Amino acid sequence: MSTEQLDSALVLDAVRVTEIAAIAASTLVGRGDEKAADQAAVDAMRTALNALSIDGEIVIGEGERDEAPMLYIGEKVGRGGAAIDIALDPLEGTTLTAKAMANALAVMAWAPKGTLLNAPDTYMDKIACGPGYPAGVIDLDRSPADNVRALAAAKGVAAEEITVCVLDRPRHAEIIASIRSVGARVNLITDGDVAGVMHTADPATGIDLYVGQGGAPEGVLACAALKCVGGQFQGRLVFRNADEKERARRVGITDFDKKYDLHEMVRADAIFAATGVTKGALLDGIRREGGHIVTHSLVMSSSTRTVREVRMRRPA
Ligand code: FBP
Repeated sequence: MSTEQLDSALVLDAVRVTEIAAIAASTLVGRGDEKAADQAAVDAMRTALNALSIDGEIVIGEGERDEAPMLYIGEKVGRGGAAIDIALDPLEGTTLTAKAMANALAVMAWAPKGTLLNAPDTYMDKIACGPGYPAGVIDLDRSPADNVRALAAAKGVAAEEITVCVLDRPRHAEIIASIRSVGARVNLITDGDVAGVMHTADPATGIDLYVGQGGAPEGVLACAALKCVGGQFQGRLVFRNADEKERARRVGITDFDKKYDLHEMVRADAIFAATGVTKGALLDGIRREGGHIVTHSLVMSSSTRTVREVRMRRPA
């Protein structure tokens, strides 16, 4: 099989997996039960992965083996085939799903074995922008205000014309103040920073920049998405206690202050798939109409820079 054929086979397999997880989670939309929604997505995604001809290892999953019975870090999935690293979040936005709010997704990324950063389950400081800017236009070590100014200059607009997506958390008060101090807009999201980062690569969302602290595993998933469409990302792990450092050590991290860029987090070509659970800026949610289930997904490959938008319809 040529690399291209292998790539397109894996692309279709990947999107089927996120479709199945999103459909399972969708039965729990608006029912106030985050755990049940997550579990439904996890069960469905694991079953779908195990049916595939891949030799997959979960590197970003539901947690470490002792805390996650399924899709734990290190779990092997598939019936044998291409050796791949898998990063997944069967339900990115458990609260969004439980409360029937926008932008909940089922997401997954695949890359050749040993090429995805084994990020521990800690926070990460993140900054991201979409494609088309000179390398280094954004930098995690500059203030949000300076990053807005640099991005505005590169875009050829005033800082007032820049919109920055930030997770709505008290810990981001200084970041928000810094962005607003130069007149830029802040688009606050309650959850879901994989979608937040992806928004920067789609001009239709109106979002230019993503800044703030979210989950490190979500950082790897977001990098895989940006790797397929272009864009820049920097991240640095944030440790709140000794236990979190120990988690990092266990996955082989020794430099706790390292600033990672996109290509250090995803070191080879990747495939990224996402299916909407609830309607959002990028994807529609799962719909049930006329006895059918309709899904809306994105599946992208960095080797071919291909972005497919997939609508699947099947009897309910
Ligand atoms: P869940 O899917 O577990 O609900 O996480 C959603 C999320 O908003 C991520 O997108 C983000 O990286 C992280 O939680 C932020 O964590 P916190 O809610 O602790 O600020």
